[in-house]
Amino acid sequence: MVTLDRHILTTEPAAMANFEVADEELPDFVDMPFEDIEELPLDHPGARDEEYRTRRDHIASLSKNFRQTGVITDVDYTDEEQSVWRYVAGELQELHEKRASPFYLQAKKSLGISNDRIPQLSEMTKRLKETTGFRLAPIEGLVDTRAFLSWLSWRTMLSTQYIRHHSRPGYTPEPDIVHEAMGHIPMFTNKDFADFSQFIGHGARIANDEQLEGLGRLYWFTVEFGLVEADGEPKAFGAGLLSSFKELENAFSDDVERRSFVLEEVIAHDYTYSDMQPVLYVAPSYKFLKEETRRYIESFGKN
Ligand SMILES: [Fe+2]
Repeated sequence: MVTLDRHILTTEPAAMANFEVADEELPDFVDMPFEDIEELPLDHPGARDEEYRTRRDHIASLSKNFRQTGVITDVDYTDEEQSVWRYVAGELQELHEKRASPFYLQAKKSLGISNDRIPQLSEMTKRLKETTGFRLAPIEGLVDTRAFLSWLSWRTMLSTQYIRHHSRPGYTPEPDIVHEAMGHIPMFTNKDFADFSQFIGHGARIANDEQLEGLGRLYWFTVEFGLVEADGEPKAFGAGLLSSFKELENAFSDDVERRSFVLEEVIAHDYTYSDMQPVLYVAPSYKFLKEETRRYIESFGKN
């Protein structure tokens, strides 16, 4: 195990193309800097619900256990939490079939993600490891961009386990299990997408601050809000789209300009977190994203 500290985070990875990261190569999770983990935001619908806060904090504490033991603890989700999942999954179902990328739809099935119950990270990480060697590591909130993205270079995605507040099942200001499992996780079963994500991770470890900003934008317009061409039309693969009925509907409306993906344009395109996205980018394929990102990361340090 190596120690993950500021030094490691900015140290060049040994090999860009090490697509099979062994457990022994992973940094020690216990050394993950977690002073930057964001607390529940004040505008969160559950911010004033004591019972919700206590429950969220309990589930979040399981990720601290994980960092000590390396073992993911399954969450015994309550009926209320399960019904939030069922509501959102049911609401998204039809729109997914129409708008989600074919790969995503198939991956969701093969990971066993159903509308009926909240999937456990332990089950999904096992399947991911078998298919593309990706892993999930529980985390209790948002961490800073460099730390979050850097973990991707070890083919690891940090993932929350708690669920949004029941009063607004269609909305969350922070990542939750709906966003992770309904949005992000299925895509890591795609080899090209997994390698592309890993390249972003490599980039985050060697980027200067300006380059890191570019990487953040690349991540935003792909992993979060990306569209990909499939069967001659744009389809959604970004988690921010796939986990939100409103965002997904908006993405295909006349309010949104859907442009062809050009890396140089994407990394220069500023965005805001809060508004609906007015511009989205359509990539020709995941392989294209992987190769463009490889080229981009290899240019780091050369200028
Ligand atoms: Fe996300």
